[in-house]
Amino acid sequence: MPTNRTFTMIKPDAVIDGFTGPIIQQIEEAGYRIVAIKKVHLTPEEAGKFYEVHKERPFYGELCEYMSSNPIIPMILEKENAVADFRELIGATDPAKAAEGTIRKRFARSLSSNAIHGSDSDENAAIEGAFFFPNGN
Ligand code: TYD
Repeated sequence: MPTNRTFTMIKPDAVIDGFTGPIIQQIEEAGYRIVAIKKVHLTPEEAGKFYEVHKERPFYGELCEYMSSNPIIPMILEKENAVADFRELIGATDPAKAAEGTIRKRFARSLSSNAIHGSDSDENAAIEGAFFFPNGN
């Protein structure tokens, strides 16, 4: 059964570019309630652990370096059909291919600096949320 929660992070490029406010506004206007939020600066080791599923991919090193380069803003979000609707709200991984009006289309710099993360399943939303918010909030 789908849960009503997803996990997201505003990534370093969007935080540096001053898009935290507009991104959160777009998320809230889409009907999400923020359950948990903080600002953190990951170590390369922590970023590597979060993205462990990608460790065999060619972009893994660059991804971990980027995600630990500056602070990020992880959040747990709540709404009906949260995971699937949020993937639609953020758009395709590559902002050049993302639909007009999506968060990545509006705010991302590039494929590797793509402004925001969104969990791809209910199971991963729970795992990723617990990584940053072990007490659930
Ligand atoms: P992935 O899980 O495939 O995409 P998504 O974030 O849309 O679920 O990839 C994780 C992150 O890795 C992605 O947001 C950006 C980065 N990445 C690259 O830097 N290069 C690539 O070729 C791909 C596929 C992803």
